Amino acid sequence: GAVELGPYRHYMQKEIFEQPRAIADTLQGVAGIVPELFDGIGACRPLGVESEKAPQRGQFLPDSQPHSGAMGQEAGKKWTAAAHSQPTTPKSDRLLEQPGRPRQAAWRVFQEIDRVLILGCGTSYYSGCVARYWLEDIAAIPTQVEVASEYRYRASVPDARTLVVVISQSGETADTLAALRHAQSLGMRHTLTICNVATSAMVRECELAYITRAGVEIGVASTKAFTTQLAGLFLLTLALAQSRGRLSKAQEDAHLKAMRHLPAALHAVLALEPQIISWAEAFASKENALFLGRGLHYPIALEGALKLKEISYIHAEAYPAGELKHGPLALVTSAMPVVTVAPNDALLEKLKSNMQEVRARGGELYVLADAGTQIDNGEGMHVIRMPENYGPLSPLLHVVPLQLLAYHTACARGTDVDKPRNLAKSVTVE
Ligand code: G6P
Repeated sequence: GAVELGPYRHYMQKEIFEQPRAIADTLQGVAGIVPELFDGIGACRPLGVESEKAPQRGQFLPDSQPHSGAMGQEAGKKWTAAAHSQPTTPKSDRLLEQPGRPRQAAWRVFQEIDRVLILGCGTSYYSGCVARYWLEDIAAIPTQVEVASEYRYRASVPDARTLVVVISQSGETADTLAALRHAQSLGMRHTLTICNVATSAMVRECELAYITRAGVEIGVASTKAFTTQLAGLFLLTLALAQSRGRLSKAQEDAHLKAMRHLPAALHAVLALEPQIISWAEAFASKENALFLGRGLHYPIALEGALKLKEISYIHAEAYPAGELKHGPLALVTSAMPVVTVAPNDALLEKLKSNMQEVRARGGELYVLADAGTQIDNGEGMHVIRMPENYGPLSPLLHVVPLQLLAYHTACARGTDVDKPRNLAKSVTVE
């Protein structure tokens, strides 16, 4: 039926607040990181949906799935059994021959690749940028990420042992589809999509698919599709790591535990909304903003800047904090708010000195700091304390206040939040 706004002012706000549910649904049935989670399209269906019936065209995944809150205990047992019966370095042939286990497409594919190429547009491209850090760090797979419209038109060096990963909310974006077909035409037959629409062209044309369960996304500025893509990409990372013998049982358990806790962690971050609103009041009168991050959170800074410019029409750009001194520092004055994504990670001390560089020029810092970072409110320092440090999954949490900042700034400026000027939800023509 029609998607109701309920108590929300805009679809974007509703979709931001749906993220705990969207992530829980996307992870439903995941209790062991087995590569079969990434089924071939022959057997492709939304995770945890047992019906063989493909969804009808135009019928989106259910907006509100019942779930146990612990990723589906029953399905969980099944996956656990499957995961633990596999040897650490499996003989894929033997697994393929097992009766009653027809869906080994992903396992076989994962044995036949030794690099990853991620393609996407807009927000979906940024989720790929986060995944590159995960894939190289956790699965030790060389990974390249490229904007689809660039990749499709340049002469590149194809490598058949590449897994081409196309990321798309709609599964219909013209440039991403064309980039996929371009890669295939160059002989790269191992393809996987992370996609929110099970009936889309992207899903039909890829060898493997992972369907996110964000539900229908109406706001042009993507929010819940992004965080569910990240959840899918993290699972892909773990599945690839496992298939390459790089994931111990203890590591797998720790990652799964963190993933199970994500919906609750997201709720805690959403509760920061009143503090974000006070930031938004200050941003509403600005014409420029700079976003800084490092490592895993550099793409989150990029996504934060994209959200702000898309819906509030404030010029915003993002930089990896270490590049500040190579250009953008020249722009910093007291009129320039500088949003800094500051998780409590190995790069924190480096980031703190970048923040000093901004303060020394009179720049106003707006910092999303984890608990325990010892970054405090003060002159020109506006700090929102994130509830906890979330390790490799931290990007899924840090992006949420940036979504809310863009949303409330746009509301304060009175723009058309759900339908920003000149932009379309799905760009199916060139
Ligand atoms: C448009 C939308 C963005 C989206 C991008 C890619 O620009 O406005 O929100 O990120 O397309 O769309 P896709 O459906 O491929 O993820």
